Amino acid sequence: MPQSKFKGMADPTGMRRNLANYGDAGFSVFLRKAFIKAMGYTDEALDKPIIGIVDTNSGYNACHRNVPDLIEAASRGVMLAGGIPIPFPVISIQESFSNPTSMYLRNLMALDVEEMIRAQPMDAVILLGGCDKTVPALMMGAASANIPAIMLVTGPMLAGSWRGEKLGACTDCRRFWARYRAGDIDEQQIDEVNSELAPTIGTCGVMGTASTMALTVEALGMMLPGGAAVPAVHAERRRLAELTGKRAVEMAAERLTPDRILTPAAYRNALRVLLAVGGSTNALIHLTAMAGRSGIAIDLDGFDAMGRETPVLVDLKPTGQHYMEDLYKAGGLTPILRQLGNLLDRSCLTVTGKTLGENIDAMPPDWPQDVIRPITEPVYRTGAMAVLRGSLAPDGALIKQAAATQSLLQHEGRAVVFDGLADMAARLDSRDLDVAPDDILVLRNAGPKGAPGMPEAGYIPIPKKLAQAGVKDMVRISDARMSGTAYGTIVLHIAPEAASGGPLALVKTGDRIRLNTAGRRIDLLVDDAELAKRRATLPPLPSGEGRRGYDKLYFDTVTQAERGCDFDFCIPEIVHRVP
Ligand code: FES
Repeated sequence: MPQSKFKGMADPTGMRRNLANYGDAGFSVFLRKAFIKAMGYTDEALDKPIIGIVDTNSGYNACHRNVPDLIEAASRGVMLAGGIPIPFPVISIQESFSNPTSMYLRNLMALDVEEMIRAQPMDAVILLGGCDKTVPALMMGAASANIPAIMLVTGPMLAGSWRGEKLGACTDCRRFWARYRAGDIDEQQIDEVNSELAPTIGTCGVMGTASTMALTVEALGMMLPGGAAVPAVHAERRRLAELTGKRAVEMAAERLTPDRILTPAAYRNALRVLLAVGGSTNALIHLTAMAGRSGIAIDLDGFDAMGRETPVLVDLKPTGQHYMEDLYKAGGLTPILRQLGNLLDRSCLTVTGKTLGENIDAMPPDWPQDVIRPITEPVYRTGAMAVLRGSLAPDGALIKQAAATQSLLQHEGRAVVFDGLADMAARLDSRDLDVAPDDILVLRNAGPKGAPGMPEAGYIPIPKKLAQAGVKDMVRISDARMSGTAYGTIVLHIAPEAASGGPLALVKTGDRIRLNTAGRRIDLLVDDAELAKRRATLPPLPSGEGRRGYDKLYFDTVTQAERGCDFDFCIPEIVHRVP
């Protein structure tokens, strides 16, 4: 019997990779080919390198609505380079269509991506997605699976326009909603705004989490140069997809695996870019989770120190004025990298097979523009974000000081406590709420386990009666996250969270809290004896008891913010610390 066509191989490629196990490799190949031939493939085609393309399209996901087009273009690139493209689905997560939160599902998607890459035959994989949790989930899965992988994002949406004013999701979603709550615009006007906030498909058009993740992944070296900022509907996005397909075939031949790219130095570069673009606070959690998959821990205090020497260079909403389409026209990531100069490690290997420095040098020269500032005239001189510690956050907390009211960064006030999202929803807008503009709003039980899923609820709305009186910002603190598109004097990611017994659980309305951003402190001004008394009367912490399915897996194994909220069993031994 002629075996050669079907036999397994010691170092298999293409269709012979990742065989279903029947105890007979030859039979596994034979059966696999029988089924795939049902789709019309020839033997010649099936002998080519196989490039998997992760299909994250869904009818619920406008951020990924161009995925079919990009698969077509990437497939063309794969075939031009002599490979066979095979798209395959994984779950799709869109921010506003994910109950309880998209963060709750990110790790499920990462598991899905990792296992589908491992389970199916492919010599390289194109990671295609864009919405906030998708890019980190794809990266986490790919880092763990460790076959040659290249990211292709769906790209940002274009900005909209309302009565002559430029606007876009989702900074302006919050800005206009706040104006509507304050009675500043009426029902008809907010309806008109609603139709203009996301005028095209693609990811949010400001420096939110999706844009930040795209830029930091390009800085990591996992995307073709210039790939982060190209709008979703631009022809260049499709050309990039074709080039990505072509490059994926070459990467398969070169066996250019993520472990060669995702080094401590590459993560240092990504953190530097996160700070320089004034990026989303969420990105720190995602980069921590991604780095964790490569045995790299991100040290919060080191990140804070890096922030002190990294200015914000990009003038984009929510901290600045412009939109992602403007960043694209200004040259995308490359001029930012050039401004950062020797703050970056140019020797890092990237998906091009060349170093970051070589990629930068090969891009067109910069041109005059007003979106990316020279490093000598930054938008914000130091540290888009600051890491806080103190009696309220022994394991750390984060504030995006570039998006805060500067006069509130040093502030002491009376706590007004909400015990969870339901409590906040029930009382925040009550006329009876005892609250003043210099109070500090506290939200707890909104962390990784508490909510669960660490919702983007840290942007606690200004209580209605204060909003109507013209109050625009207050100090707000929580164990939740905040959308990267939000702004305000907001302390986030307090760890440990209240639901894990963190000190946030002990705060009472009326306590004094001191925020000292310059000194990197967040403290509850209550003496230890009183806190010990309160701890003794706390109700039992929530437990995994009575949970089932994914909820149980999530609850029992999710880590706190400082470990990226990844599942503990997915994080290998930590062998490096960055920065
Ligand atoms: Fe998908 Fe903003 S909701 S990127």
